Amino acid sequence: MKDKWQCRVYIDLFSGAGRARIKETGKIVDGSPLIALGIDDPFDRYIFCEEDATNIDALRKRVMTDYPSLDTHFVHGDANKAVDEILAKIPQHSPIYKVLGFCFVDPFKIDNLKFTTLKRLSAKYMDFLVLIPTGMDARRNVSYYMKYNSKHIEEFTGRPNWRDEWPEAEARGENFGLFFIKQFCTSMADIGYKYTTAEASVEIRSTEKNLPLYRLAFFSKHPLGHKFWGEAKKYSSPQLDLF
Ligand SMILES: C[S@@+](CC[C@H](N)C(=O)[O-])C[C@H]1O[C@@H](n2cnc3c(N)ncnc32)[C@H](O)[C@@H]1O
Repeated sequence: MKDKWQCRVYIDLFSGAGRARIKETGKIVDGSPLIALGIDDPFDRYIFCEEDATNIDALRKRVMTDYPSLDTHFVHGDANKAVDEILAKIPQHSPIYKVLGFCFVDPFKIDNLKFTTLKRLSAKYMDFLVLIPTGMDARRNVSYYMKYNSKHIEEFTGRPNWRDEWPEAEARGENFGLFFIKQFCTSMADIGYKYTTAEASVEIRSTEKNLPLYRLAFFSKHPLGHKFWGEAKKYSSPQLDLF
């Protein structure tokens, strides 16, 4: 894309601290921000959002040490509330200065993300890679989320009437994780990301017990984006190689 767009922007809504320790092995690995900064053809601008003050401070220090010459911006706060600030940091697109965004969305759990945040960012030229906590959260906590006073599924998927549709899906034998991602994909299709199906996402399982943890789904309004996603999937291996 570097030859087609004058400015490519990487946005990490849930950046973390830049590095993380794998609980089981103690190994320290680069997190998504440092992986994105270290690619051969870097983005022209990086925007990192993180709610936790210790994490964002650690990230800022690591980025300043390892990548001082790249154009990096830090937003400290809840990504859902800081969306105006994030949008303001994306350069203005014009016919002679084309701006393409790639937004990585890596929440811990369902209540970290509101669909309206992605909807607002989608007003720009924006592709999304979204971690959807189907196994580790949605399936495990289904009875909690079914409670009528819980708005988390509605807010993540952007589907206020999901409870009306779940009984039929359950009767078809669908598990809640699959139902959840289908609801999310329907909302993404409503805002123009019509190519992604639940089946096209990648399931990530835990290495020890081989339990489904989450799914990674890619969303682009352009078929070329999906061609690249298809290529990327060929080289991905489960869980820890990805991160
Ligand atoms: C799964 S971790 C991200 C890991 C990171 N992508 C990496 O590869 O190292 C989720 C991060 O999001 C932060 N977080 C949780 N809710 C948030 C919110 N609403 N807005 C911004 N950051 C949030 C957490 O503090 C945590 O650092």
